[in-house]
Amino acid sequence: MGRLFWKCFLILLLFITVTVGCIIGATSLWRWAVPEQRSFEAEKLALVQQGVATALAYDDTRSARRMLQGWPQSSELPSPYVVDDNDRDLLGRPLAATELASARRHAAASAPFSQLIRSENGHRYLLFVRGSDLQQMQQNAHIKPPPPLLPITTAILISLLCSALLAWRAAKPIRQLRWAFRQLANGRLETRIRGSLGRRRDEISELAGEFDGMAQQLQQLVGAQRRLLHDVSHELRSPLARLQAAIGLARQRPDPARLDSTLERIEREVVRVDTLVGELLTLARLEAGSGSVARERVDLVELLAAIADDAQFEAQAHGRDVRFAADGEFVAEVGAELLYRAFENVIRNAVKYTADGSSVDILAHSSGDQLHITVADRGPGVPEDALQDMFEPFLRVGEDGQGRSGFGLGLAIARRAIESHGGHISAHPRDGGGLEVRISLPAQ
Ligand SMILES: Nc1ncnc2c1ncn2[C@@H]1O[C@H](COP(=O)(O)OP(=O)(O)O)[C@@H](O)[C@H]1O
Ligand SMILES: [Mg+2]
Repeated sequence: MGRLFWKCFLILLLFITVTVGCIIGATSLWRWAVPEQRSFEAEKLALVQQGVATALAYDDTRSARRMLQGWPQSSELPSPYVVDDNDRDLLGRPLAATELASARRHAAASAPFSQLIRSENGHRYLLFVRGSDLQQMQQNAHIKPPPPLLPITTAILISLLCSALLAWRAAKPIRQLRWAFRQLANGRLETRIRGSLGRRRDEISELAGEFDGMAQQLQQLVGAQRRLLHDVSHELRSPLARLQAAIGLARQRPDPARLDSTLERIEREVVRVDTLVGELLTLARLEAGSGSVARERVDLVELLAAIADDAQFEAQAHGRDVRFAADGEFVAEVGAELLYRAFENVIRNAVKYTADGSSVDILAHSSGDQLHITVADRGPGVPEDALQDMFEPFLRVGEDGQGRSGFGLGLAIARRAIESHGGHISAHPRDGGGLEVRISLPAQ
């Protein structure tokens, strides 16, 4: 049991004990203070005496005797005596003359529990409770405190039980949370706890909800990292295998005439590995946060124009066209190199995928403190369900050979670069076919 359990337990125990103590105290005080409560036995006695008196009034001694015989024999409830004309008790109980004399006196003075009854046939009965019995009964009623041990023991036991139960219930969700945190720390990222708390709606259930959210995000992040690691290894493997093959071949047949081409091949693969590692490093840098990226004031429209110009040069070679339109300038303090790479990749993609003879349209306009850029091509476009995923690392949509030159890291880097500037990038199908990539960037 944890400390929280004991804290709750002690607080509840104290609370319940005090409450129960107060209730017992108040009840005792009430019993003590209210006379009717004290003479409950006397009320009972008076009632039976009245019954006996009524029977005697009709000389029904049989019923009176029955009633007296049925009266419990206890020191708390004395049994009344009935003396007839011959001074004999109805039940034949012995009676001292002095007791009888004092009973007659009491009856004459109409004292409680002493009564002279004249029946309808003219018989006289003296119905009374012996003075000593009466005294004993009154003393019992006065002195007798409520038997304290039983209610107190019961109260303590019930308090202990209730406190333990309530404390256990109060500490239960905390125990469950602790268990969940431990599971998470042990790498079980699929651990969720909200469901196990049932229908409760309080701060604890909110905390459990937060925990579930955190666990889910961790699971996604770790899953993404694992996938990335897997993809990286996979991507590195192919050029390295080709390198190994080329070196092995050169070793087996050291033909000076083919050395040049072998070296060229090796160099190509090395450049490919180098490019991949470079892109991965950029991605890792962006994932870790761009706090270390140097920022400078740059006109982004001018930057775009320069990239569009370069792309136009490249596109022309394939009979394609790049059209750029912008209004004014948009100067912002940015990581210029990162944004350059982001824009360049999006535009190069468009040039790469747009159909021969078609053109890529680049539009830049500012509204308020936002710069909106659209890069639209007339290529094959991207299926609806891949429009989001294409920004994930190593994802190449509908791989059919034409996109083989890249690693699928360009858009992943672009998205992180733009988001690290507080911007947003998304891809949409273009009316009339093709893809339209929209970028918005704040002035900051
Ligand atoms: N303009 C486009 N038209 C059609 N598909 C595109 C376009 N731009 C990107 N894609 C798809 O998205 C994938 C990821 O792009 P990117 O991250 O730039 O990687 P890479 O260019 O290295 O293949 C590409 O492989 C391609 O399948
Ligand atoms: Mg690309």
